Amino acid sequence: MKAKNCLIFGGSGQIGLNLIRKLTKNNYRVTVVTRNIHQKSYKIKTQANAGYINIVEANIFDENKIRNLFSKADICINLIGILYEQKKGSTFKNIHSVFPSLLAKLCKEYNLKQFIHLSALGINEAIDSDYAKSKLEGESNILKNFPLAIILRPSIVYSVDDNFTTNFMRLLSVLPIFPLYYEGKTKFAPIHCSDLTDTIYHVISKNIYSNIIECIGPEVISFKDLLERLLKLMNKKRILIPFPLTLAKLTANFFEMLPNPLLTRDQLRLLKYNNISSGKYKTNFDIGIPSVRFFDKEVEKYSYMWRDGGQFSTEKYTSKKNLENKTS
Ligand SMILES: NC(=O)c1ccc[n+]([C@@H]2O[C@H](COP(=O)([O-])OP(=O)(O)OC[C@H]3O[C@@H](n4cnc5c(N)ncnc54)[C@H](OP(=O)(O)O)[C@@H]3O)[C@@H](O)[C@H]2O)c1
Repeated sequence: MKAKNCLIFGGSGQIGLNLIRKLTKNNYRVTVVTRNIHQKSYKIKTQANAGYINIVEANIFDENKIRNLFSKADICINLIGILYEQKKGSTFKNIHSVFPSLLAKLCKEYNLKQFIHLSALGINEAIDSDYAKSKLEGESNILKNFPLAIILRPSIVYSVDDNFTTNFMRLLSVLPIFPLYYEGKTKFAPIHCSDLTDTIYHVISKNIYSNIIECIGPEVISFKDLLERLLKLMNKKRILIPFPLTLAKLTANFFEMLPNPLLTRDQLRLLKYNNISSGKYKTNFDIGIPSVRFFDKEVEKYSYMWRDGGQFSTEKYTSKKNLENKTS
């Protein structure tokens, strides 16, 4: 059977790198489009068997350049997304709405078999978030241009390569007190990156079309519970204090002035809404790909780096037996 060609936008991110490993291992050929081949290609290349990966540098809005790539593709996967807006065109509207719409149009024109787009969970509910509104608009544009598209809506995605658990652990390891927004009551269904890419792989290999699928982990965890679990895994104690909204907004205002803001006002609005299955759409569990990776067990594999002693804090180094061996 001829190997299928997958054209991936945003393949250098957390989800992309994991997905490339899965696809190429299963004999899919992958072409990844990146904005900066010099910066990203060494990382992308190491994820795949030689001969199965091709990397192309392009401005994602250069229609002529990306158009050529569609003629050889069977499947297009869009993993490009942003959490905050930046100048020079990196706006929610451009990235989450205009660009996916262009991809869907090209998928239709070149008769691609599948278009898989990564959206986000909870966007119907988060009506005052610009991020959520743009993701929703993107979905609607896609379905107009390519009704067969598959839209995946993940809850928070975590892994050793994420900007979520690793960022929180970095902050928790240096800050003596930590703010709880909305009293830490917001609920999440964090999904491990590998469980998510198993779902994407299933959608591709089983030729699933025209559906919105919510991608959730096996547990529902509140923001407070999540921080407490991370602290336990890091073997640290910190004071978690509920933060008044006005103060939270003020800090978000300040953070927005930084190049990579820790929290923006829009993210603060988003945090108000639970990020769990809506019950209105099928989930990965319903399509036969239940998430099998549990938060504590997975994060334990890399959380030791934020414990006192860093790499030497693992049981391997600290167990009694080992110490005895060393001293004898
Ligand atoms: N991670 C999560 O927790 C989560 C949760 C829900 C939904 N999602 C969605 O899942 C998708 C993939 O997530 P991810 O965490 O893997 O994404 P990511 O690592 O943040 O970004 C994926 C790639 O998108 C490209 N990109 C980023 N900003 C861009 C811009 N302004 N213009 C053009 N390209 C840009 C980058 O590729 P190059 O630098 O190589 O060009 C980047 O490596 C996104 O749509 C995201 O919204 C993620």
